[in-house]
Amino acid sequence: MPASLRAVPVTALLLGLGAAAPAVAQAPTPTQVIEAFEGVQGPIRTHRPSHPKGTCAAGFFEGTAEGARLSVSPTFGGQRIPTVIRFGVGGGPTAADTSRSTRSLSIRFQVPDGTPWDMANISVPIFGAPTPEALVEGLRVRRPDPATGRPNQEAINAFVAANPKTTLQGRLLAANAPPASWATTPYWGVSTFRFRGADGEVRPARWVFEPVAGTQRLSEEQTRSLPSDFLAEELRGRVAQGPAAFDMMLIFPQAGDDLNDPTAAWPDDRQRVSVGRLTVTEVAPGPGGACDRISFLALANAPGVEFSDDPTLRARPAPYALSQVKRTRPQ
Ligand code: HEM
Repeated sequence: MPASLRAVPVTALLLGLGAAAPAVAQAPTPTQVIEAFEGVQGPIRTHRPSHPKGTCAAGFFEGTAEGARLSVSPTFGGQRIPTVIRFGVGGGPTAADTSRSTRSLSIRFQVPDGTPWDMANISVPIFGAPTPEALVEGLRVRRPDPATGRPNQEAINAFVAANPKTTLQGRLLAANAPPASWATTPYWGVSTFRFRGADGEVRPARWVFEPVAGTQRLSEEQTRSLPSDFLAEELRGRVAQGPAAFDMMLIFPQAGDDLNDPTAAWPDDRQRVSVGRLTVTEVAPGPGGACDRISFLALANAPGVEFSDDPTLRARPAPYALSQVKRTRPQ
C-alpha cells in the first residue's frame, strides 16, 4: 500500500472513499495512533507510551495581572490554584536521566469552577513531527520486523529523507547537554493556542515555563558519573529546602512565523509576557502518586485558551484517553 494511503482508515478504503479522494492522507484514528506506539514499544499495560518514566509533584499556580488581561480563563484570575504536577523523562520506562531526550512538565490546574485544565510541556520548543500522519508513519516505519527483531533501516532512511522536519527535534536534543534538574530547564507547550483576552480580542501565542532557578545543564563529567535515576532524588532534596518555581511566559508571533507547524521554532527575540507563576511545593516520596492515573489531555480546551489550526492539537485528546484506559485498567 502506498505510504500516502497507509494512514487512511480501513473503513474509508472499504467504502471506496480512498479511490475518489485526492492523494491526501486523512488524520489517523485514535486506535491507529495507539497501535503505532504499541508497534514500536509493545502493548500499553502500565506505562504511558510517551514519557513513561516520571515523578508526581504538587503545588499551585498564581496568574499575573497581564495573565488576566490576556486570557479570560479562570486559571489566570490571580487566585492560588492547586495543581497536580508530573515531571517526566522521554524514552522508555527505564530511560537514563542523563540521556539527551526530552524532559517533561505536565500540569493539571484545579480551577475554582471545577473544570480542570491540563497541559503537557517538553524541554525543547519543537515537536518531533509536523502532523499526526507524520508521527504515525514515523512510528510505523520503526516497528521491528518480526523476522529480524529490528526495524528496516532502509525504510527509516527513506521516511526521514521524505520527512526532514521529523529530524529537527532530535538534532536540537543532541546539540544540548541534559538538564541538571527538573527544576532547571524551560518547558514549552510547543503548539500555538489562541488566547481570548478580557478585551474580547483573540491573540495567537505559544508558551514556555521558565525556571526561576535559571537554566542549568549537566557537565560532561556529571553526565558520565551521575546515576541513571538522579532526577527524582535531586528534586526531593531541592524542594525540601524551599519551593521550585517556573514563570509561565506567553510568546507572541510576528508576521511570517508559522502558527500551525509544531516543528517550526519561532526566533528567540519574540515578545514575551509573564502570565503566571507555578510553584512546586511537594514531591512524591517514591513511585506513583496523584499524577499517575491522570492523562494530561493537554488540550481539553480551556475557556480563554483555544486550539489553533495546528493539526497535532486535535489529534491528541482521543489517543491520550485511550492510552489512559489501557494503562489504568486492572491487569
Ligand atoms: C499528534 C500529536 C500527538 C500524539 C498523537 C500524542 C500522543 C500521546 C499519548 C498517547 C500519550 C500518553 C497519554 C497517557 O497515557 O496519559 C502522550 C503523552 C505525552 N505527550 Fe503527546 N502526543 C502528541 C503530541 C505531543 C506534543 C506536541 C507534545 C509536546 C508538548 C507532547 C508531549 C507529551 C507529554 C509530555 C506526554 C506525557 C504526559 C504525562 O506526563 O502524562 N505530545 N502523548
